[in-house]
Amino acid sequence: MSFNELDLFEQRASLAEDVINGLKKELNSLYALLKCGNIQGNNEDDGQTVSQADFEKLKKENEKLKYRIEILKKTLCEFKAKHIALTTDMSNCSSMISIQNTLSSLFEKAISEVFPDLTDPPVDISMSNNPKFGDYQCNSALPICKLLSTVDKTTEKKKISPKDIAEKIAAKVASSSMIDKLDVAVNGFINIYLKREFGQNVFRNVLKSEKVSVAPLIRKRKVIIDFSSPNVAKEMHVGHLRSTIIGDSIARLLEYLGHDVLRLNHVGDWGTQFGMLITHLEDQFPNYCTESPPISDLQAFYKESKLLFDTDEEFKKRAYANVVKLQAHDPKIMQAWKLICDVSRKEFQSIYNRLDIQLVERGESFYQKHMEDIVKVLEEEGFLEEDEGRKIMWGQTKDGIPLTIVKRDGGFTYDTSDMAAIRHRIFEEKGEWLIYVVDSGQAVHFQTIESCAKRARILLSFHKMDFVGFGVVLGEDKKKFKTRSGDTVKLSELLDEGLKRAEEKLKEKEREKVLTEEEFNRAKESVAYGCIKYADLCHDRNKEYIFSFDRMLSDKGNTAVYLLYALTRIRSIARMANVSREQVKQAIESTPISLDHEKEWKLAKVLLRFPDVIMKVTKDLSLHNLCDFCYEVACTFSEFYDNCYCVEKNQAGEIVKVNMGRILLTEVTAMMLEQCFSLLGLKPVEKM
Ligand code: ARG
Repeated sequence: MSFNELDLFEQRASLAEDVINGLKKELNSLYALLKCGNIQGNNEDDGQTVSQADFEKLKKENEKLKYRIEILKKTLCEFKAKHIALTTDMSNCSSMISIQNTLSSLFEKAISEVFPDLTDPPVDISMSNNPKFGDYQCNSALPICKLLSTVDKTTEKKKISPKDIAEKIAAKVASSSMIDKLDVAVNGFINIYLKREFGQNVFRNVLKSEKVSVAPLIRKRKVIIDFSSPNVAKEMHVGHLRSTIIGDSIARLLEYLGHDVLRLNHVGDWGTQFGMLITHLEDQFPNYCTESPPISDLQAFYKESKLLFDTDEEFKKRAYANVVKLQAHDPKIMQAWKLICDVSRKEFQSIYNRLDIQLVERGESFYQKHMEDIVKVLEEEGFLEEDEGRKIMWGQTKDGIPLTIVKRDGGFTYDTSDMAAIRHRIFEEKGEWLIYVVDSGQAVHFQTIESCAKRARILLSFHKMDFVGFGVVLGEDKKKFKTRSGDTVKLSELLDEGLKRAEEKLKEKEREKVLTEEEFNRAKESVAYGCIKYADLCHDRNKEYIFSFDRMLSDKGNTAVYLLYALTRIRSIARMANVSREQVKQAIESTPISLDHEKEWKLAKVLLRFPDVIMKVTKDLSLHNLCDFCYEVACTFSEFYDNCYCVEKNQAGEIVKVNMGRILLTEVTAMMLEQCFSLLGLKPVEKM
């Protein structure tokens, strides 16, 4: 079987899984209806009642769905069996596979063979935290024992112990190139020992293919990620920086997994504030149509216009008139608007360039026409309600707060633009998975958008929408991150400060003496931008985090600096041993990767977890798990390096022996770290 076929199996299996999940959801809502007996006559309290005829129909539907689930389950089981057969034959597979998944499939099959009557038996595989008890464990025997005892209560059957259950399961586990042996502990845990040759095969394939890739975990989708999204004329602040960094990393991850990703910058470039900005522009630079106005400090310009707007009635009137003209796309006013947006755009772009972040700008203004359309659609379908002159829309339930789709003055809102945007992303862009990376303060807004989009049948059961929120950035005083004078911190200044601090750090280590100017500058940028990104990504994004250059630039602990150093050090091992790339390449075929020493095996087991880490990070969209993994790789590597000679030297410092099997392990570790860095947006340098 070729890898392409494997890919196809994986995709179809996860497709079947998606369908099953969709069906399960439908079934659950049918069950809910059945359970609360919402049949006309039984329950008078709400509009959710169902007539007797409908009820019979639902019941039939229910039976059909159950049947389809059974069929799909069987198909899925077959796919999984094939998948095991394919993926555990590592000689064909250039991608790393998930150990957790493979073990789960193997044990699921064994359990269902031993207990064919148990529906959905628990399959619980975990890593073992003590090598004495194997590398992984299957913890299913105890819960199965409990299940059996409740099932058998009436039949007075002889009790069976967890240990007996575990033994029965272990005996049925199919032989696999992944598993060395199983043993059953008294309490019924099954200890799983991985085969070292399995690790050697995986790493050989990584080295041979010259890339670290993982077998597809979920079906490839069209993903749309809305991130960064600053506002024109307002400061792009640290909140936007978080969104930019987290969003970029999620995009990198999903691109790496083969998804078709669209990175959208939903810039706040439309709305009433432009009325006052344009009016102020007209007053200050009447020739703006022919001469480009020299506004460099757009924030100050914004402040001035806001002051006029609040104090000068005549100005305010003209500002409102300009909003109307803007929405009617009056050419002169459009030009003023464009000039203002261009100033912001340049500033934003310089930040993106420095951080090496790609985005497609599609701001709120893009949706003007689409907003008109969605209002019409929602109105026609009866989703809008009058509320003191506004037009509002409730989500699937009437608790919480509704969206304001049209304001009293007929204008549109942030809600309108997000409804228009979601419709465009689903219908025009054919997005299947929508991700919004926005501060947690907007969680309710996006929940309501999701609920309304479902109610309006824009989002269907096979679409996925994820709100990726994050906490606020605090200063070292644990208060909201501000400059000493109390202003919001300008991002460009923050990045400059990062560069300055990184330079100091490198000079402290006298790096300017050993690096060329070019190398030094490259190292400086790598450290500065790397540490800012990493400090953000390595925390659980839901929590607030304290911005501290001192902490992020420390070369100890879980920081970018430590990791970047670790990688250059690992990379230098082969160089110091005078082993060329050519020699490494040749050794892949001839030398087994050394995994006999306890520390070698420990490192190998961490590296083998990569697909499982990727799976978790993808599921939760939580990059800190990937950061923790990098840190663990670096620490375990240093433990290995302290205990295992890669190169032996004599007293004169001459190399007497190179342990090639270990150099290969070193090479795999470096490749793995590089892959993780690329997902995190860190740029490693050869020397630092
Ligand atoms: N511009 C908004 C802000 O600064 C964020 C936009 C997020 N994306 C969206 N589709 N609403 O708060």
